[in-house]
Amino acid sequence: MKVIVTKNYNESCRTAAEEIIKQVKKDPESKLGLATGGTAENVYPVLVEAYKEGKVDFSGISTVNLDEYIGMDPTSPQSYRKCMDSWFFDQVEIDKERTYCPSGMNKPEDEIKLFNEKLYADKMVDLQLLGVGVSGHIGFNEPGESLTAGVHIESLDESTIKANSRFFDSPDDVPRESITMGIGDIMKAKKIVMIVTGENKVPVMKELLTNDNVTCKVPATMLKMHRDVTVVIDEELAAAAGYQA
Ligand code: F6R
Repeated sequence: MKVIVTKNYNESCRTAAEEIIKQVKKDPESKLGLATGGTAENVYPVLVEAYKEGKVDFSGISTVNLDEYIGMDPTSPQSYRKCMDSWFFDQVEIDKERTYCPSGMNKPEDEIKLFNEKLYADKMVDLQLLGVGVSGHIGFNEPGESLTAGVHIESLDESTIKANSRFFDSPDDVPRESITMGIGDIMKAKKIVMIVTGENKVPVMKELLTNDNVTCKVPATMLKMHRDVTVVIDEELAAAAGYQA
């Protein structure tokens, strides 16, 4: 696992975006796995800026997003489709037909089938962008006795409901379930770039960066088994987690 320690979160966003831009320049038809959430959000303006400056062309890429809340209307501000449209897809030249955000409104079995087609029908994901939850989740793969390899419906951990309640009027409004790529789906991406910041992620970063354990209790630790993972963190988080290069 490669760890890049930056001066601050802004620099982390630039660094993660640079990895994506490098990938798209190498292969303009790249398939990108994309993430939402507060940490990943600020990676997109850097991509949009690079596009506007003519430094990168997204018109040939295809994308698949990690997850969505069950029951979430795609036009609602909390919908991950809505986030992706406003943060990225509507601001660059991209073929929207080749962007996929799972629907939380469809029949689960139908959506799982479609999600798998989008993930695997043509090519594998070249680069997967990830954040990580306070629970240690990646995508919405929450800690437990075991993890699920493929696309599935997942109940959200109490800590995730609490953390994500900042995007809703009240914790009661946070959906309890999500549709998500499984751990195996994430691990099949050729390259993974994870961006992490914030004091509440210290325990997870300790588990990920300061020991060699792999445990379902902290799903992000599965990344230790992947060949090409880059974790981008700021020096404040690195110090608090006790990470030393
Ligand atoms: C979002 C996703 C989640 C988030 C995670 C961190 O698509 O899959 O795993 O990356 O919940 O969210 P923030 O950055 O808001 O703490």
